[in-house]
Amino acid sequence: MTGGSKGIGAAIAQALAEDGWLVAVNYRSDEEAAGRVVKAIEEAGGRAAAIHGDVTNGAPDELFKNAEEALGPVLALVNNAGVRADGLAIQLDDDDWDRVIGTNLTAAFRLTRRAMRPMIRARYGRIVNVASVVGPRANAGQANYAAAKAGLIGLTKTVSHEVARRGVTVNAVAPGFIDTEMTKDLPESVIEAVPARRAGTPEEVGAAVRFLASENAGYVTGTTLFVDGGLSA
Ligand code: NAI
Repeated sequence: MTGGSKGIGAAIAQALAEDGWLVAVNYRSDEEAAGRVVKAIEEAGGRAAAIHGDVTNGAPDELFKNAEEALGPVLALVNNAGVRADGLAIQLDDDDWDRVIGTNLTAAFRLTRRAMRPMIRARYGRIVNVASVVGPRANAGQANYAAAKAGLIGLTKTVSHEVARRGVTVNAVAPGFIDTEMTKDLPESVIEAVPARRAGTPEEVGAAVRFLASENAGYVTGTTLFVDGGLSA
């Protein structure tokens, strides 16, 4: 799973480990934090390995090779790594556009493409993409992020049709306002728009991913599960 050293990614890694998955915890820079996630999983009786790599470097082969060497075949992929670089569209520069599309969308596509062949061969696979409520709905100041996350949902639906007969499911989760580093600079007032009147926790997103990655979710594919306290209902 990508971007697993903190926030939602760390919670997803732990939730998957509780279900018996051996978890490759990908991280870009914070080796120590990734190590803490691995340690917590191992202390709870699970198995995990920290796998270094920037998902935007265009070479997912190395990430997969390292994960496969450490833990065996990759039968589930969670594309969680994400960044934001906000600004009104009129002011967004090309770098902010490219970085957000590159991390949230293009990297997820490349990793998905790399993941599919072994899954098809095994006639079993689970791909879960971490999208957002932003994309399906507007959020001024996030044209790049919305385009990336809406694109990710489109990618999810289309690939799900391509592999549906092969035992491989492809789904997305769309978190709303979740309490992580990514949202720590947002004003408290955003909560007022949330019917549940609170931020969600990374663990609540982890639980949704855990379901979509489970054997029980075999007939659930191409869908987006909103984890947003009712925000988009
Ligand atoms: P975060 O900033 O705490 O974590 C993002 C993770 O992605 C970090 O571990 C970071 O190192 C990793 N990452 C970023 N670029 C990377 C790269 N090039 N290569 C490898 N790893 C990279 O943010 P958070 O909140 O945990 O976000 C996780 C996902 O959830 C993201 O895709 C985000 O867009 C999505 N999301 C978050 C929401 C929130 O309210 N926190 C709401 C909706 C979606």
